[in-house]
Amino acid sequence: MKILSIQSGIFGDHSNSTQLVKQVVDKLSREAENVIVTERDLSTQPLPYFDAEVAMALNSDAPNRTAAQQKIVALSDLLIEEVKEADAIVLGLPMYNFGIPAQMKSWFDLLARAGVTFTYTEQGPKGLLADKPVYVVAARGGVHQGQPSDSQTPFIRTILGFIGLQDVRIVYVEGLNMGDSAKAESLSKFETELVEFA
Ligand SMILES: Cc1cc2nc3c(=O)[nH]c(=O)nc-3n(C[C@H](O)[C@H](O)[C@H](O)COP(=O)(O)O)c2cc1C
Repeated sequence: MKILSIQSGIFGDHSNSTQLVKQVVDKLSREAENVIVTERDLSTQPLPYFDAEVAMALNSDAPNRTAAQQKIVALSDLLIEEVKEADAIVLGLPMYNFGIPAQMKSWFDLLARAGVTFTYTEQGPKGLLADKPVYVVAARGGVHQGQPSDSQTPFIRTILGFIGLQDVRIVYVEGLNMGDSAKAESLSKFETELVEFA
């Protein structure tokens, strides 16, 4: 079983989301055989910001690519390959200023490739990646689940579904900055939920 672990907490191992992702990966690993984990830390391995250069590279025809465009496309190919290779993906999703981390947005911008990970049909867009479980750990300082302030999880479901990944399973770990007892309660709820979640 191949697990792709995606971390995006800006504080590395000090980020709650990173620690929680590791717990989910450990749980999945305990229940499978021959587990291979590929880690991609979007905070320590930053991806290029999505600008005109990146957008044009991703839409360029292979024979006409400049060296710089080839480099960008090769990176996008690698990220897509990591997703394709995985049997399951574990995604750490910290909330920063009500959104997903900018680094994670760059990851999605490099994954969404017309003709490679999605296409448009007469019936609308169609994702081209084979479906697989995506375990999302939504870690927040406050409490947002089901409220307008949570634009993160609808976005995550939309973009993953757009490229073919429909099986999105989200665990919410909230109130992490609301005092020691709220944090302890939230982490203990997560540990209970983890039994069923992963
Ligand atoms: C710059 C910054 C912005 C944040 N913005 C929010 C926010 O908008 N809403 C919220 O509930 N928590 C917010 N938090 C708290 C994080 O969601 C919280 O620390 C959580 O544990 C996820 O981040 P972590 O994985 O880096 O620990 C913010 C934290 C930082 C450092």
